[in-house]
Amino acid sequence: MSDVADSIPQLASYDDASLDHNFASLTAQVRTEAQALTGAEAREAFHLRWLGRKQGRLKLISDAWLKTAPPDARKALGMRFNQLKQQIEAALVDAATASAAPRTSAGIDITLPGTVRAPGIEHPLLKTMHEIVRVFHHLGYSTALGPQVESDFYNFEALNFPPNHPARDTQDTLRIACQDGRPQADRLLMRTHTSPVQIRSMIAEAPPLRIVVPGKVHRNDAADATHSPVFHQVEGLCVDTNITFSDLKGTLDHAMKALFGSGVKTRFFPSFFPFTEPSADVQISCIFCAGNGCRKCKHSGWIELLGCGMVDPAVFISVDAQRIAQGRPPAYDPAKITGFAFGMGVERIAMVLHGVSDIGLFYSGDMRFLEQFA
Ligand code: DAH
Repeated sequence: MSDVADSIPQLASYDDASLDHNFASLTAQVRTEAQALTGAEAREAFHLRWLGRKQGRLKLISDAWLKTAPPDARKALGMRFNQLKQQIEAALVDAATASAAPRTSAGIDITLPGTVRAPGIEHPLLKTMHEIVRVFHHLGYSTALGPQVESDFYNFEALNFPPNHPARDTQDTLRIACQDGRPQADRLLMRTHTSPVQIRSMIAEAPPLRIVVPGKVHRNDAADATHSPVFHQVEGLCVDTNITFSDLKGTLDHAMKALFGSGVKTRFFPSFFPFTEPSADVQISCIFCAGNGCRKCKHSGWIELLGCGMVDPAVFISVDAQRIAQGRPPAYDPAKITGFAFGMGVERIAMVLHGVSDIGLFYSGDMRFLEQFA
Protein backbone atom coordinates (compact mmCIF):
# COMPACT_ATOMS: atom_id res chain seq x y z
CA MET A 1 0.00 0.00 0.00
CA SER A 2 3.03 2.26 0.07
CA ASP A 3 3.20 1.99 -3.68
CA VAL A 4 3.25 5.27 -5.61
CA ALA A 5 0.00 4.16 -7.27
CA ASP A 6 -1.63 4.13 -3.87
CA SER A 7 -0.85 7.64 -2.88
CA ILE A 8 -3.46 10.28 -3.46
CA PRO A 9 -2.46 12.08 -6.63
CA GLN A 10 -2.01 15.80 -6.37
CA LEU A 11 -4.19 18.01 -8.49
CA ALA A 12 -2.27 21.08 -9.62
CA SER A 13 -5.11 22.88 -11.30
CA TYR A 14 -8.87 22.59 -11.81
CA ASP A 15 -8.97 23.53 -15.47
CA ASP A 16 -10.46 21.04 -17.91
CA ALA A 17 -7.14 19.98 -19.43
CA SER A 18 -5.65 19.18 -16.10
CA LEU A 19 -8.77 17.32 -14.94
CA ASP A 20 -8.80 15.26 -18.15
CA HIS A 21 -5.14 14.42 -17.76
CA ASN A 22 -5.51 13.27 -14.15
CA PHE A 23 -8.65 11.24 -14.78
CA ALA A 24 -7.07 9.61 -17.84
CA SER A 25 -4.22 8.34 -15.73
CA LEU A 26 -6.67 7.02 -13.09
CA THR A 27 -8.64 5.22 -15.83
CA ALA A 28 -5.42 3.70 -17.15
CA GLN A 29 -4.53 2.52 -13.66
CA VAL A 30 -7.98 0.91 -13.23
CA ARG A 31 -7.67 -0.84 -16.57
CA THR A 32 -4.20 -2.26 -15.90
CA GLU A 33 -5.23 -3.58 -12.53
CA ALA A 34 -8.51 -5.04 -13.82
CA GLN A 35 -6.75 -6.94 -16.60
CA ALA A 36 -4.55 -8.71 -14.09
CA LEU A 37 -7.48 -9.94 -11.96
CA THR A 38 -7.78 -13.71 -11.55
CA GLY A 39 -10.29 -15.30 -9.25
CA ALA A 40 -13.06 -14.06 -7.01
CA GLU A 41 -10.75 -12.98 -4.19
CA ALA A 42 -8.71 -10.70 -6.40
CA ARG A 43 -11.90 -9.15 -7.73
CA GLU A 44 -13.18 -8.59 -4.21
CA ALA A 45 -9.89 -6.89 -3.24
CA PHE A 46 -10.04 -4.69 -6.34
CA HIS A 47 -13.61 -3.76 -5.49
CA LEU A 48 -12.66 -2.74 -1.94
CA ARG A 49 -9.56 -0.90 -3.05
CA TRP A 50 -11.41 1.31 -5.53
CA LEU A 51 -15.00 1.42 -4.36
CA GLY A 52 -14.69 0.78 -0.60
CA ARG A 53 -17.13 3.15 1.11
CA LYS A 54 -14.66 4.55 3.66
CA GLN A 55 -11.15 3.82 2.46
CA GLY A 56 -11.74 3.20 -1.27
CA ARG A 57 -9.44 5.18 -3.56
CA LEU A 58 -12.35 6.77 -5.34
CA LYS A 59 -13.70 8.11 -2.05
CA LEU A 60 -10.29 9.30 -0.79
CA ILE A 61 -9.33 11.01 -4.05
CA SER A 62 -12.71 12.63 -4.42
CA ASP A 63 -12.59 13.93 -0.83
CA ALA A 64 -9.08 15.28 -1.31
CA TRP A 65 -9.82 16.98 -4.59
CA LEU A 66 -13.22 18.34 -3.66
CA LYS A 67 -11.90 19.86 -0.44
CA THR A 68 -9.81 22.45 -2.24
CA ALA A 69 -12.00 22.73 -5.33
CA PRO A 70 -13.36 26.15 -6.21
CA PRO A 71 -17.22 25.95 -6.28
CA ASP A 72 -17.42 26.33 -10.07
CA ALA A 73 -15.21 23.26 -10.63
CA ARG A 74 -17.36 20.89 -8.54
CA LYS A 75 -19.67 19.98 -11.34
CA ALA A 76 -16.83 19.11 -13.72
CA LEU A 77 -15.18 17.04 -11.00
CA GLY A 78 -18.40 15.24 -10.07
CA MET A 79 -19.11 14.24 -13.63
CA ARG A 80 -15.65 12.78 -14.04
CA PHE A 81 -15.83 10.86 -10.76
CA ASN A 82 -19.14 9.34 -11.86
CA GLN A 83 -17.59 8.31 -15.13
CA LEU A 84 -14.60 6.76 -13.39
CA LYS A 85 -16.93 4.88 -11.04
CA GLN A 86 -18.81 3.44 -14.01
CA GLN A 87 -15.53 2.39 -15.60
CA ILE A 88 -14.48 0.60 -12.42
CA GLU A 89 -17.83 -1.19 -12.21
CA ALA A 90 -17.72 -2.19 -15.87
CA ALA A 91 -14.16 -3.51 -15.41
CA LEU A 92 -15.42 -5.66 -12.53
CA VAL A 93 -18.30 -7.08 -14.58
CA ASP A 94 -15.91 -7.88 -17.44
CA ALA A 95 -13.50 -9.64 -15.11
CA ALA A 96 -16.33 -11.70 -13.58
CA THR A 97 -17.75 -12.71 -17.00
CA ALA A 98 -14.31 -13.68 -18.24
CA SER A 99 -13.71 -15.93 -15.25
CA ALA A 100 -17.19 -17.54 -15.37
CA ALA A 101 -16.64 -18.64 -18.96
CA PRO A 102 -12.92 -18.47 -19.62
CA ARG A 103 -13.30 -19.95 -23.11
CA THR A 104 -15.98 -17.63 -24.34
CA SER A 105 -15.69 -14.84 -26.74
CA ALA A 106 -18.26 -12.05 -26.41
CA GLY A 107 -20.54 -14.29 -24.32
CA ILE A 108 -20.65 -17.19 -26.80
CA ASP A 109 -19.13 -20.47 -25.72
CA ILE A 110 -17.30 -21.53 -28.82
CA THR A 111 -16.49 -24.94 -27.37
CA LEU A 112 -20.15 -26.09 -27.17
CA PRO A 113 -21.41 -28.21 -30.08
CA GLY A 114 -23.37 -26.01 -32.49
CA THR A 115 -27.14 -26.11 -32.93
CA VAL A 116 -27.74 -28.17 -36.05
CA ARG A 117 -30.56 -26.66 -38.07
CA ALA A 118 -31.73 -28.92 -40.86
CA PRO A 119 -32.22 -26.83 -43.99
CA GLY A 120 -35.72 -27.41 -45.36
CA ILE A 121 -36.08 -29.45 -48.52
CA GLU A 122 -38.68 -29.40 -51.21
CA HIS A 123 -41.42 -31.94 -50.44
CA PRO A 124 -40.99 -34.96 -52.75
CA LEU A 125 -44.39 -34.28 -54.35
CA LEU A 126 -43.59 -30.65 -55.11
CA LYS A 127 -40.15 -31.71 -56.32
CA THR A 128 -41.69 -34.21 -58.73
CA MET A 129 -44.25 -31.64 -59.86
CA HIS A 130 -41.51 -29.11 -60.55
CA GLU A 131 -39.47 -31.72 -62.43
CA ILE A 132 -42.42 -32.50 -64.70
CA VAL A 133 -43.18 -28.82 -65.28
CA ARG A 134 -39.50 -28.13 -66.05
CA VAL A 135 -39.44 -30.76 -68.80
CA PHE A 136 -42.27 -28.92 -70.56
CA HIS A 137 -40.82 -25.47 -69.93
CA HIS A 138 -37.80 -26.67 -71.89
CA LEU A 139 -40.17 -27.50 -74.75
CA GLY A 140 -41.54 -23.95 -74.76
CA TYR A 141 -44.64 -24.50 -72.60
CA SER A 142 -45.63 -21.90 -70.04
CA THR A 143 -47.38 -22.49 -66.71
CA ALA A 144 -51.10 -21.74 -66.32
CA LEU A 145 -53.03 -22.03 -63.04
CA GLY A 146 -56.71 -22.18 -62.17
CA PRO A 147 -59.01 -22.26 -59.13
CA GLN A 148 -59.62 -25.38 -57.03
CA VAL A 149 -63.22 -24.35 -56.41
CA GLU A 150 -64.54 -24.63 -59.95
CA SER A 151 -67.90 -24.45 -61.69
CA ASP A 152 -69.62 -27.46 -63.22
CA PHE A 153 -69.23 -25.71 -66.58
CA TYR A 154 -65.41 -25.62 -66.61
CA ASN A 155 -64.89 -28.91 -64.79
CA PHE A 156 -67.37 -30.93 -66.89
CA GLU A 157 -69.67 -29.30 -69.42
CA ALA A 158 -67.13 -27.42 -71.53
CA LEU A 159 -64.97 -30.55 -71.49
CA ASN A 160 -67.78 -32.41 -73.21
CA PHE A 161 -69.15 -34.20 -70.15
CA PRO A 162 -72.87 -33.42 -70.65
CA PRO A 163 -75.10 -33.35 -67.53
CA ASN A 164 -75.87 -36.91 -66.39
CA HIS A 165 -73.22 -38.37 -68.72
CA PRO A 166 -71.85 -41.60 -67.19
CA ALA A 167 -68.25 -40.38 -67.68
CA ARG A 168 -68.91 -38.06 -64.73
CA ASP A 169 -69.13 -41.14 -62.53
CA THR A 170 -65.42 -41.83 -63.03
CA GLN A 171 -64.67 -38.62 -61.14
CA ASP A 172 -66.63 -38.84 -57.87
CA THR A 173 -67.14 -35.18 -57.17
CA LEU A 174 -67.10 -33.16 -53.95
CA ARG A 175 -69.76 -30.50 -54.40
CA ILE A 176 -70.04 -27.18 -52.61
CA ALA A 177 -73.20 -27.01 -50.47
CA CYS A 178 -76.33 -24.91 -51.22
CA GLN A 179 -75.88 -24.68 -55.00
CA ASP A 180 -79.21 -26.28 -55.98
CA GLY A 181 -80.86 -22.95 -56.73
CA ARG A 182 -78.34 -22.22 -59.49
CA PRO A 183 -78.30 -23.46 -63.08
CA GLN A 184 -76.30 -26.66 -63.25
CA ALA A 185 -73.42 -25.06 -65.21
CA ASP A 186 -72.87 -22.49 -62.45
CA ARG A 187 -72.90 -24.89 -59.53
CA LEU A 188 -69.60 -24.94 -57.66
CA LEU A 189 -67.55 -28.02 -56.89
CA MET A 190 -63.99 -28.97 -56.02
CA ARG A 191 -62.24 -29.52 -59.34
CA THR A 192 -61.71 -33.21 -59.99
CA HIS A 193 -58.91 -32.64 -62.49
CA THR A 194 -56.72 -29.83 -63.87
CA SER A 195 -58.40 -30.05 -67.30
CA PRO A 196 -60.75 -27.05 -66.65
CA VAL A 197 -57.68 -24.82 -66.94
CA GLN A 198 -57.47 -25.89 -70.61
CA ILE A 199 -60.85 -24.23 -71.15
CA ARG A 200 -60.00 -21.11 -69.14
CA SER A 201 -56.74 -20.68 -71.06
CA MET A 202 -58.30 -21.13 -74.52
CA ILE A 203 -61.09 -18.67 -73.72
CA ALA A 204 -58.45 -16.13 -72.66
CA GLU A 205 -55.94 -16.68 -75.47
CA ALA A 206 -55.99 -17.49 -79.15
CA PRO A 207 -53.71 -20.22 -80.54
CA PRO A 208 -50.84 -21.04 -80.72
CA LEU A 209 -51.03 -22.19 -77.12
CA ARG A 210 -48.69 -24.40 -75.15
CA ILE A 211 -49.37 -24.66 -71.41
CA VAL A 212 -48.64 -26.93 -68.45
CA VAL A 213 -51.01 -26.79 -65.50
CA PRO A 214 -49.76 -28.11 -62.16
CA GLY A 215 -52.21 -28.19 -59.26
CA LYS A 216 -54.29 -29.83 -56.54
CA VAL A 217 -57.42 -31.78 -57.40
CA HIS A 218 -60.13 -33.35 -55.22
CA ARG A 219 -62.23 -36.49 -55.45
CA ASN A 220 -64.61 -38.22 -53.10
CA ASP A 221 -62.35 -41.29 -52.97
CA ALA A 222 -61.61 -43.31 -49.84
CA ALA A 223 -57.93 -43.17 -48.97
CA ASP A 224 -56.01 -46.39 -49.59
CA ALA A 225 -52.49 -47.31 -50.69
CA THR A 226 -52.96 -45.69 -54.11
CA HIS A 227 -55.81 -43.17 -53.57
CA SER A 228 -56.12 -39.92 -51.69
CA PRO A 229 -59.13 -37.56 -51.75
CA VAL A 230 -56.72 -34.68 -52.45
CA PHE A 231 -53.93 -35.25 -54.94
CA HIS A 232 -51.97 -33.44 -57.64
CA GLN A 233 -51.98 -33.43 -61.42
CA VAL A 234 -50.03 -31.83 -64.22
CA GLU A 235 -52.09 -31.09 -67.30
CA GLY A 236 -50.70 -30.19 -70.70
CA LEU A 237 -52.23 -28.57 -73.75
CA CYS A 238 -50.74 -27.75 -77.14
CA VAL A 239 -52.95 -26.09 -79.78
CA ASP A 240 -51.96 -24.73 -83.17
CA THR A 241 -52.51 -25.45 -86.85
CA ASN A 242 -51.35 -28.89 -88.02
CA ILE A 243 -50.80 -30.47 -84.61
CA THR A 244 -50.99 -34.23 -85.07
CA PHE A 245 -51.06 -37.40 -83.00
CA SER A 246 -47.37 -37.86 -83.96
CA ASP A 247 -46.57 -34.59 -82.18
CA LEU A 248 -48.36 -35.92 -79.10
CA LYS A 249 -46.45 -39.20 -79.22
CA GLY A 250 -43.08 -37.51 -79.75
CA THR A 251 -43.69 -34.99 -76.98
CA LEU A 252 -44.74 -37.55 -74.37
CA ASP A 253 -42.03 -40.03 -75.38
CA HIS A 254 -39.46 -37.28 -74.86
CA ALA A 255 -41.05 -36.24 -71.53
CA MET A 256 -41.04 -39.80 -70.16
CA LYS A 257 -37.39 -40.28 -71.16
CA ALA A 258 -36.51 -36.94 -69.53
CA LEU A 259 -38.25 -38.00 -66.31
CA PHE A 260 -37.39 -41.69 -66.04
CA GLY A 261 -34.20 -42.03 -68.07
CA SER A 262 -33.42 -42.34 -71.74
CA GLY A 263 -33.79 -46.15 -71.59
CA VAL A 264 -37.57 -46.15 -71.08
CA LYS A 265 -39.91 -47.01 -73.91
CA THR A 266 -43.45 -45.69 -74.25
CA ARG A 267 -46.55 -47.21 -75.76
CA PHE A 268 -50.01 -45.80 -76.38
CA PHE A 269 -53.22 -47.73 -75.73
CA PRO A 270 -56.67 -46.72 -76.95
CA SER A 271 -58.73 -45.20 -74.13
CA PHE A 272 -61.63 -42.83 -73.59
CA PHE A 273 -61.91 -39.28 -72.29
CA PRO A 274 -64.87 -37.09 -73.30
CA PHE A 275 -62.63 -34.13 -74.19
CA THR A 276 -60.17 -35.97 -76.46
CA GLU A 277 -60.73 -38.00 -79.60
CA PRO A 278 -58.90 -40.24 -80.14
CA SER A 279 -57.80 -40.78 -76.52
CA ALA A 280 -54.96 -42.92 -75.24
CA ASP A 281 -53.39 -44.22 -72.05
CA VAL A 282 -49.62 -43.99 -72.01
CA GLN A 283 -47.50 -46.75 -70.55
CA ILE A 284 -43.75 -46.81 -69.96
CA SER A 285 -41.59 -49.90 -69.89
CA CYS A 286 -41.19 -51.01 -66.26
CA ILE A 287 -38.24 -49.15 -64.74
CA PHE A 288 -37.86 -51.78 -62.00
CA CYS A 289 -37.35 -54.81 -64.24
CA ALA A 290 -36.50 -53.12 -67.57
CA GLY A 291 -39.65 -54.60 -69.04
CA ASN A 292 -38.98 -58.22 -68.07
CA GLY A 293 -41.93 -58.50 -65.69
CA CYS A 294 -41.94 -58.09 -61.91
CA ARG A 295 -44.38 -57.50 -59.04
CA LYS A 296 -44.36 -53.72 -59.56
CA CYS A 297 -45.61 -54.02 -63.14
CA LYS A 298 -47.84 -56.98 -62.32
CA HIS A 299 -45.57 -59.06 -64.57
CA SER A 300 -46.64 -57.16 -67.67
CA GLY A 301 -43.37 -55.27 -68.19
CA TRP A 302 -45.35 -52.01 -68.52
CA ILE A 303 -46.54 -49.31 -66.12
CA GLU A 304 -49.55 -47.15 -66.95
CA LEU A 305 -48.85 -43.50 -66.22
CA LEU A 306 -51.09 -40.96 -67.91
CA GLY A 307 -53.99 -40.12 -70.19
CA CYS A 308 -53.86 -38.09 -73.37
CA GLY A 309 -55.46 -37.50 -76.73
CA MET A 310 -56.30 -35.08 -79.53
CA VAL A 311 -58.56 -32.25 -78.38
CA ASP A 312 -62.16 -33.14 -79.28
CA PRO A 313 -63.71 -30.65 -81.77
CA ALA A 314 -66.67 -30.33 -79.38
CA VAL A 315 -64.27 -28.69 -76.88
CA PHE A 316 -63.10 -26.13 -79.46
CA ILE A 317 -66.72 -25.36 -80.32
CA SER A 318 -67.68 -24.72 -76.70
CA VAL A 319 -64.55 -22.57 -76.20
CA ASP A 320 -65.44 -20.40 -79.20
CA ALA A 321 -69.05 -20.06 -77.99
CA GLN A 322 -67.68 -18.71 -74.70
CA ARG A 323 -65.23 -16.39 -76.45
CA ILE A 324 -68.08 -14.94 -78.49
CA ALA A 325 -70.27 -14.61 -75.38
CA GLN A 326 -67.44 -12.64 -73.75
CA GLY A 327 -66.99 -10.36 -76.77
CA ARG A 328 -63.81 -11.98 -78.09
CA PRO A 329 -63.30 -13.15 -81.67
CA PRO A 330 -63.68 -16.91 -82.20
CA ALA A 331 -60.24 -18.46 -82.67
CA TYR A 332 -60.69 -22.22 -82.43
CA ASP A 333 -62.35 -23.27 -85.70
CA PRO A 334 -61.99 -27.10 -85.59
CA ALA A 335 -61.54 -27.11 -89.38
CA LYS A 336 -58.28 -25.17 -89.01
CA ILE A 337 -57.09 -25.77 -85.48
CA THR A 338 -55.97 -29.01 -83.86
CA GLY A 339 -54.28 -29.83 -80.60
CA PHE A 340 -53.36 -32.47 -78.09
CA ALA A 341 -53.78 -32.66 -74.34
CA PHE A 342 -52.47 -34.89 -71.58
CA GLY A 343 -52.89 -35.25 -67.85
CA MET A 344 -50.81 -37.08 -65.26
CA GLY A 345 -50.98 -37.75 -61.54
CA VAL A 346 -48.01 -36.34 -59.66
CA GLU A 347 -48.32 -38.86 -56.80
CA ARG A 348 -48.37 -41.76 -59.23
CA ILE A 349 -45.23 -40.52 -61.00
CA ALA A 350 -43.44 -39.82 -57.70
CA MET A 351 -44.35 -43.33 -56.46
CA VAL A 352 -42.93 -44.95 -59.59
CA LEU A 353 -39.84 -42.71 -59.62
CA HIS A 354 -38.96 -43.48 -56.00
CA GLY A 355 -40.43 -46.94 -55.55
CA VAL A 356 -42.96 -45.77 -52.94
CA SER A 357 -45.82 -48.24 -52.46
CA ASP A 358 -48.10 -46.26 -50.11
CA ILE A 359 -49.41 -42.85 -51.20
CA GLY A 360 -50.15 -41.96 -47.55
CA LEU A 361 -46.42 -41.62 -46.84
CA PHE A 362 -46.41 -38.39 -48.84
CA TYR A 363 -48.92 -36.78 -46.48
CA SER A 364 -47.89 -38.25 -43.13
CA GLY A 365 -45.14 -35.73 -42.34
CA ASP A 366 -42.93 -38.59 -41.12
CA MET A 367 -39.40 -37.18 -41.13
CA ARG A 368 -37.85 -40.63 -41.60
CA PHE A 369 -39.62 -40.83 -44.95
CA LEU A 370 -39.14 -37.20 -45.98
CA GLU A 371 -35.43 -37.08 -45.08
CA GLN A 372 -34.70 -39.62 -47.78
CA PHE A 373 -35.44 -36.97 -50.38
CA ALA A 374 -32.93 -34.46 -48.94
N1 DAH B 1 -58.36 -35.19 -66.71
C1 DAH B 1 -58.08 -36.61 -66.78
C2 DAH B 1 -58.32 -37.26 -65.45
O1 DAH B 1 -58.17 -36.61 -64.45
C3 DAH B 1 -56.68 -36.86 -67.24
C4 DAH B 1 -56.50 -36.48 -68.67
C5 DAH B 1 -56.67 -37.44 -69.65
C6 DAH B 1 -56.16 -35.20 -69.00
C7 DAH B 1 -56.51 -37.11 -70.98
C8 DAH B 1 -56.02 -34.86 -70.35
C9 DAH B 1 -56.20 -35.85 -71.32
O2 DAH B 1 -55.72 -33.62 -70.73
O3 DAH B 1 -56.02 -35.49 -72.61
O4 DAH B 1 -58.62 -38.42 -65.38
